Amino acid sequence: MQKISIAGKGGTGKSVLTTLLAKVLKEMGYRVLIVDADESNPGLYRMLGFHHGPSDLIDLFGGPRRVMELTREMGVPTHPLDNEKIYLRDIPGKYLMATDTLKLASVGKITGAFEGCACPMAEVLKTFLYRLFLKEREIVLVDMEAGVEHFGRGVERYIDTLLILVEPSFESVALASKINL
Ligand SMILES: Nc1ncnc2c1ncn2[C@@H]1O[C@H](COP(=O)(O)OP(=O)(O)OP(=O)(O)O)[C@@H](O)[C@H]1O
Ligand SMILES: [Mg+2]
Repeated sequence: MQKISIAGKGGTGKSVLTTLLAKVLKEMGYRVLIVDADESNPGLYRMLGFHHGPSDLIDLFGGPRRVMELTREMGVPTHPLDNEKIYLRDIPGKYLMATDTLKLASVGKITGAFEGCACPMAEVLKTFLYRLFLKEREIVLVDMEAGVEHFGRGVERYIDTLLILVEPSFESVALASKINL
């Protein structure tokens, strides 16, 4: 139950719930890593009380073009850290906004026109979640992008628990049912 993702239709409260869960888990004595996996919305760091976000993890992996080259060549992007497993302490400081008990990482954002799709971010997210080794009382919350694209890309294979948020609309319930299949 250490890697938890928060998913659902746009605007259902994923980022707010991620923030509240982080606060509660922190108070319960867990060290919490939040992974911002929303390639569009930039503001999760503000909800968490930081003044700016961390550098994008995708840059740690060599940037979008390199990630896709490696994905084509090897199936998954190779991370640039030495060990097969990634420990929280291995991640260079600029890729984490941090307090004593709470850390924020961000996969990467679409920032410009004609930049291409978000596939490289998804590959980085999968590799990062797969290789991230958590110690006792460390927990990861992944604030997902809206919709079901991450399911199509198989991101959920690398998490332990999925929380699906629903608002009282047909689209929201239909999407949650689809996710729950
Ligand atoms: N439990 C709640 N009760 C009332 N308002 C809420 C609740 N949760 C979230 N909101 C409000 O709903 C709006 C959307 O919340 P939030 O940004 O967390 O959604 P999201 O699912 O992350 O959206 P997106 O898909 O755009 O990332 C915000 O204005 C937030 O303040
Ligand atoms: Mg959000």
